[in-house]
Amino acid sequence: MSASFNSIETSDNTNHWKTLKTFGSYLWPENRWDLRLRVLLALFFLVLAKVLNIYVPFLLKQTIDIFSQTISPLTLPLSLIIAYGVARLGVALFGELRDFIFAKVGQNAQRVIALNTFKHLHSLSLQFHLSRQTGGLSRVIERGTRGIQFVLNFMTFNILPTLLEIVLVTGAVIYHFGFLYGLIIFSTITIYIFLTISVTEWRLKFRKSMNSAETSANTKAIDSLLNFETVKYFGNEEHEYYRFDLSLAKYEKAAVTSQMSLSVLNITQAAVISLGLIAVMWMAGQGVINKVFTVGDFVLINTFLIQLYLPLNFLGFVYREIKNSLVDMDKMFELIQVHSDVADDPNAQDLMVTKGVVEFKDVQFGYSQNRQILKGVNFKIGAGQTLAIVGSSGAGKSTIARLLFRFYDVTDGQITIDGQDIRHVTQKSLRQNIGVVPQDTVLFNDSIGYNIFYGKPDATEEQMHKASHMAKIHDFIASLPQGYDTPVGERGLKLSGGEKQRVAIARTILKNPPILIFDEATSALDSHKEKEIQASLQEISTSRSTLVIAHRLSTVVNANEIIVLQDGQVAERGTHSQLLKKRGLYASMWFKQQEEQSHSVESAPET
Ligand SMILES: Nc1ncnc2c1ncn2[C@@H]1O[C@H](COP(=O)(O)OP(=O)(O)OP(=O)(O)O)[C@@H](O)[C@H]1O
Ligand SMILES: [Mg+2]
Repeated sequence: MSASFNSIETSDNTNHWKTLKTFGSYLWPENRWDLRLRVLLALFFLVLAKVLNIYVPFLLKQTIDIFSQTISPLTLPLSLIIAYGVARLGVALFGELRDFIFAKVGQNAQRVIALNTFKHLHSLSLQFHLSRQTGGLSRVIERGTRGIQFVLNFMTFNILPTLLEIVLVTGAVIYHFGFLYGLIIFSTITIYIFLTISVTEWRLKFRKSMNSAETSANTKAIDSLLNFETVKYFGNEEHEYYRFDLSLAKYEKAAVTSQMSLSVLNITQAAVISLGLIAVMWMAGQGVINKVFTVGDFVLINTFLIQLYLPLNFLGFVYREIKNSLVDMDKMFELIQVHSDVADDPNAQDLMVTKGVVEFKDVQFGYSQNRQILKGVNFKIGAGQTLAIVGSSGAGKSTIARLLFRFYDVTDGQITIDGQDIRHVTQKSLRQNIGVVPQDTVLFNDSIGYNIFYGKPDATEEQMHKASHMAKIHDFIASLPQGYDTPVGERGLKLSGGEKQRVAIARTILKNPPILIFDEATSALDSHKEKEIQASLQEISTSRSTLVIAHRLSTVVNANEIIVLQDGQVAERGTHSQLLKKRGLYASMWFKQQEEQSHSVESAPET
């Protein structure tokens, strides 16, 4: 509650209208004639209930009139009394029918909005998600959905019906009593609404300070208890009590003021209604004396006014909550309006992979404008060939993989697959054709089997097992008590780094795309396991264009071409033996790693 009050400051009425309009379109959805029919039916029952609701006081009036006719002998107007009861039941019945019929419309709107938001979030770029906290996003959706629910309930079941009732009652009063009476009733309610909203606006600041005082008292108490030991070390209990009480006193004061302002609101409301009542009853009383009206009429006008203002009793609360809800809904709808930095070209075609030739032409890129990561990178992966990228940490190797997958667009230059610029093909088709084993694998909090199937959800069990065989993880999984049903824990943290990597390899093998990217795919494995897996990887990459990123150079010696990335540019290129002959960067990296390895082999027996 406290957080949503803070948001009131940022509220903006033009936004609210936009939000309500967007929301309205979900309640009157195109191509859903069943739902539109429901809206119409619900409206019909709404009107029916309200008309009947206005008819009820008339029945009461007629009954009273019969009682007050002293000339004829008194007989009990049983049929009128029963009609009165039945009419009351009818009001309730039609009201419930309206809610029941409308429920599907409201629920459908909520579902579609939540789904659209979710879809939209998935269509936004990686950049957007990296710069946002996921928790924050889900909170926006959660609040927005709650806001929708509230607005829906109160707009449709409270505010709209009441507005309709005001109109109907005014009409009935004008018809039965005359224009002046209608005017008084209408003005009373208008003034009532106006004052309620004004006083509620004025009260908001008291509610807000009450909420912030409460938060501050809570924080103090928690902080103090967390520091229990420190408080004891310094014997500062009295100081803590004092600080806590200071916050409590603030809360006390704010709560009292808030209650006072609530009383002001209630008194204002009652005063307006009473004045209205006095005015109409005085006039109607005159009418009774002058024999223009009956006693029943006198009761009738009273009943009308009281019946009208009952649902308005909570108007202050409803107004405040709807305002909060609208702010939350604004935020959610704003999210839907964020455009993706990486969007499909309007004329985008599906990528057609024939040979799988990947080409980077003078590619320049930076995550931000003031820091260039790639400064003109050129390379070509021929059909079925393997290109390896090596280079120091932070050189931009993973960035190249992300660009090929089109998580980002290049700032200059071009990336093509079989001659098609990847900016001009659909992202879906592009990504279908590329399999990535990323540097850091994160798994879904589900079973190992689920995570491998993720590569190709419609694969058979057999295909899945074959993929995990190739990724050298099948034996491990089979040795687990729960086998493929073993849960992997949040983000896959119950698996070791090497196991996670092999699950990632297995699911990419299962996906079976024509282009592969291995970004340090075996970095977390010991060299024995790595050798084993290397054979499998070589097997699956023979017929595919493959981009391998590696630190351990021993894993790339067989690549058709190796490029050394340095300072955002290709510093050296060639095959393993060519590069060794060059005695440059690659050669020195190679010898250094060889040396380290022989050291670790030498020192191995000692440990
Ligand atoms: N989303 C991002 N926003 C801003 N800068 C980024 C982003 N991702 C990476 N960088 C920066 O870009 C540079 C290149 O990163 P990249 O991940 O491509 O390095 P790498 O060569 O793969 O390194 P490593 O071998 O450590 O994986 C790094 O300096 C990194 O800090
Ligand atoms: Mg990397």
